[in-house]
Amino acid sequence: MAAISYELIKTCQQSGARLGKIHTPHGSIDTPIFMPVGTLATVKTLSPNELKDMNAQIILSNTYHLWLRPGEDIISEAGGLHTFMNWDRPILTDSGGYQVFSLSKLRDIKEEGVHFRNHISGEKLFLSPEKAMQIQNALGPDIMMAFDECPPYPAGRDYMKASVERTSRWAERCLEAHQRPNEQALFGIVQGGEYEDLRKQSANDLISLDFPGYAVGGLSVGEPKDVMNRVLEFTTPLLPKDKPRYLMGVGSADSLIDGAIRGIDMFDCVLPTRIARNGTCMTTNGRLVVRNAKYARDFKPIDEHCDCYACRNYSRAYIRHLVKCNETFGFRLTSYHNLHFLLTLMQRVRKAILEDRLLDFREEFFEQYGFNKE
Ligand code: GUN
Ligand code: ZN
Repeated sequence: MAAISYELIKTCQQSGARLGKIHTPHGSIDTPIFMPVGTLATVKTLSPNELKDMNAQIILSNTYHLWLRPGEDIISEAGGLHTFMNWDRPILTDSGGYQVFSLSKLRDIKEEGVHFRNHISGEKLFLSPEKAMQIQNALGPDIMMAFDECPPYPAGRDYMKASVERTSRWAERCLEAHQRPNEQALFGIVQGGEYEDLRKQSANDLISLDFPGYAVGGLSVGEPKDVMNRVLEFTTPLLPKDKPRYLMGVGSADSLIDGAIRGIDMFDCVLPTRIARNGTCMTTNGRLVVRNAKYARDFKPIDEHCDCYACRNYSRAYIRHLVKCNETFGFRLTSYHNLHFLLTLMQRVRKAILEDRLLDFREEFFEQYGFNKE
C-alpha cells in the first residue's frame, strides 16, 4: 500500500486549477494548500494549538537542520517527529538539498553527494541521497523529498543539463535507499531552470521512476515572476494528473494564486513567518509594515477584513509598540496573522475552484491587493 493517495475532486472550468485531497497516514489535507514552515520542529513563535486554531493542515520541516540539531537519532528515540513536537497532523520534510545549497558557501558537489561545511560550527559534513533518506526515515514525516540539486538562477544550459541528469540519478538512489515506502511517501523534484526541454527531460526521468508525488524545484531563486509562471505553464502539464504537485519555496499571495491556476496543489515558504518577525504583515490591501511611525496612533486592526486572533483583539499601535520593543508577543501576533492570512487565502482559492471562478477571484483579489506590492 502506498503511503499517500491523491483524490482529484474537480478542475476549475475557468482556470484549470485543481481541487483535491491528499490522504496521508496522519489524515487528509485539502488542496491547493499552503504549508507553514517549521524548520527546527517548530513553526517559529507558534504552538501546535495555535496552528490548529488557524486550520493549518500540514507543516513542513527540514532534514538538514534536524540532522545537525538535535540529530535524527534523538527524534527517532522520542518516537518520531510528530511525537517529538506534539503535532499529530501531516508533516512533510525537505531533503536538505536546497539548504546545503542556500546556507553553505563552501560546498563541493560530487556524484556521490555534497561535501560542505556546517553553517553554524564550520565542521565538515557530507550529505548524499542515501543519507538524506536515512535521516528522513528516522524523522518519520508523512511525505519526504528526494535529495536534489537546486541550481542558482541564472545557470547556463550546460551546467543545468548536467545538474538535471545528476538529480535524476540521485532520485533513483533515493528510491532505492528508502526503507519505509508504505508509511512515508517520497516525492521526486523536477529541476531544469527556465529551460523547457530540460524540465521535460527531468519530468520524464522522474515519472519513469514512479514517485507518489512530484515537486517543481529550482523556482523562486531570483527569477522574475513571469519566468516562474512560464516554467509552471510548461512543466505542470508534464506531470501525472493522479499525483500531487508541489511548488517548493513559494509563498507570496500572488504566486499562490498564480501557481494554483497553473495546476499546483501544494506550496511552502518561510516568507509569512520571516517577514512577520521584522514587523511586516500580509493584508487584503497588500503588505503593511506595522513598524512604521504612521501606525503609532492607529488603533485599527492589522487587517480590517481579517478575523484572526490578532486582528480581533489588538491594534496596529499596540503591535507596533511590541515589535519596536522586540517583545516576543508582538512577533507571535504578526506570525499568527500572516499564516492565518495565507491559510484563509487558500481556503478562498479552493472555494473559487469549486465555483469555477478562480480567474474572477484573482481579479477581485488583486484589485484590492495591488499588483506590485509583493
Ligand atoms: N525549496 C525550494 N526550492 C527547492 C528545491 O529546488 N529543492 C529542494 N529540495 N528544496 C527546495
Ligand atoms: Zn489577522
